[in-house]
Amino acid sequence: MESHQQRHQLGTVVCTNEGPNVSEFSFVLEGGTNETTVRRGEFVTIEAEFGLVVARVQDLVRTNRYFQHAEAVREYQSRGEPLRSIFPTNRWQYTIAQTRVVGFWIEGRTVRPYTTVSPGAIVTRADEEMLAKFLKLDMDEGLKLGTVANHNLEFRASIDRLLSKHLAILAMSGAGKSYFVSVMLEEILSRSQDTGRLSVVVVDVHGEYSYLKDVDPKSLGLPEGAFEVEHIRGSHIQIPVHSLSAESFSSYIAGMSGVQIRDLRRSISDIRTRFKDGYTITDIINLVKDDETISKNTREALVGWLITLEDTGLFGKEASPEIIDIIRPGKITLIDLSDFVSLKKKQIIVSHLAGELLYYRRQGRIPPFLLVLEESHQFCPESRQELALPKARIETIAREGRKFFALLCLITQRPVKLSTTVLSQCSNQAILRCTNPYDLDHIGRSSEGIDRASLNAITTLEVGEALFVGETVSVPTFVKIRTRRFEPQGMAANLTEAIRKAEKK
Ligand SMILES: Nc1ncnc2c1ncn2[C@@H]1O[C@H](COP(=O)(O)OP(=O)(O)O)[C@@H](O)[C@H]1O
Ligand SMILES: [Mg+2]
Repeated sequence: MESHQQRHQLGTVVCTNEGPNVSEFSFVLEGGTNETTVRRGEFVTIEAEFGLVVARVQDLVRTNRYFQHAEAVREYQSRGEPLRSIFPTNRWQYTIAQTRVVGFWIEGRTVRPYTTVSPGAIVTRADEEMLAKFLKLDMDEGLKLGTVANHNLEFRASIDRLLSKHLAILAMSGAGKSYFVSVMLEEILSRSQDTGRLSVVVVDVHGEYSYLKDVDPKSLGLPEGAFEVEHIRGSHIQIPVHSLSAESFSSYIAGMSGVQIRDLRRSISDIRTRFKDGYTITDIINLVKDDETISKNTREALVGWLITLEDTGLFGKEASPEIIDIIRPGKITLIDLSDFVSLKKKQIIVSHLAGELLYYRRQGRIPPFLLVLEESHQFCPESRQELALPKARIETIAREGRKFFALLCLITQRPVKLSTTVLSQCSNQAILRCTNPYDLDHIGRSSEGIDRASLNAITTLEVGEALFVGETVSVPTFVKIRTRRFEPQGMAANLTEAIRKAEKK
């Protein structure tokens, strides 16, 4: 019987000016079909005496000595006798594959490269079963997110590796970020009670996930009631005023001074003794207005701010909904903010949500959760100049949340604008197509283990292709995200469809 090596032999390692060395080698492809089937990005292996060397094809270079001299080629051409009609030019063509060593596979473990392969070593196609283990995929219980690019291998990401230390999804708009999130949500919803189900809260800025409430578990091959999706409109959310301390107020108002916070704290403790069954911001305003112990300036400032908050319509006597009641295993809660134009209102809601989730999770009163935040640069910007009410709370979750499984999935089309504190706490990044040089530079600096070549490849990715970097995989890996099993109905996919639909109305 043929061995794996014989069946999948691709070529032989050759000497180059620099290599083979610890991190790179080149090999000349055997003639025949290999010449055209080896692809850039593909993983290849070499059996060395110490174990298996795993490398990625970075580039393919083809040469032919007959065509090396432009003068000669032109000469034959002008005589009307192309070279190939006179000489056996085909036999002199060969292709060199340049590879980068990504790791060693020794006794079932991924090891950093520490020595070089030898010239003459035989290069083979990577065996997919080995590759799954080498990349640290979870082929039994992992989320089925797509396939490893250039391989016939399902990309099944371990939920522990992918989500337990926060995930950032970065790409330009239209690259497939939200689509990837829907695929991931489908997978999270498909988990059984035995394997454990995560609770998810999605801050849906554009209302593009609301279709999930129509997903029938049976369409995903699950029993009835296997999961639950709740859709909450931002305009229906009410933040309970009685739960707000002076500090919480200051987190909704940019620029409150220490003195103002102190005076407000006194008024709040005062009002708490007077109104036992809750109170509104108007009640606080009336109290502050008449409080002679507060200086006139402070009083005016406080009243002004409180009126602005009251005007948002987001605050009331009672909480609606009670965050503690809506978070459950196997449930996705969609917070649909598409009704709001005002960024400030969106920020207030996200700030409230992040605060409550962290508070209840710390006390163990809600299960481990994943907070999915679209447009996260709007809520947690790097720049100090921008209005950023929820920033401190999101940064706290980013820093401390992993200890008690308060997890973030941050999505942005402007990585440069996202807080670096938060980005650096995300141990995983899924990077889709991105061409802005500033964003690329930022991604390169903020994620360890991403090499120049992979970074360059990000600009050439197609919609729906992602580079996974971080804990999920042992080495940066390109993945073709699968198509989703449940398609939203009634959404126009393109302009032609949208205008045709408009005509029919
Ligand atoms: N993995 C994929 N498979 C098939 N189509 C995709 C995939 N990812 C994205 N698309 C297509 O690209 C469009 C834009 O994707 P979307 O996720 O909305 O981009 P983004 O959120 O990055 O702006 C989708 O509506 C879909 O038609
Ligand atoms: Mg999107």
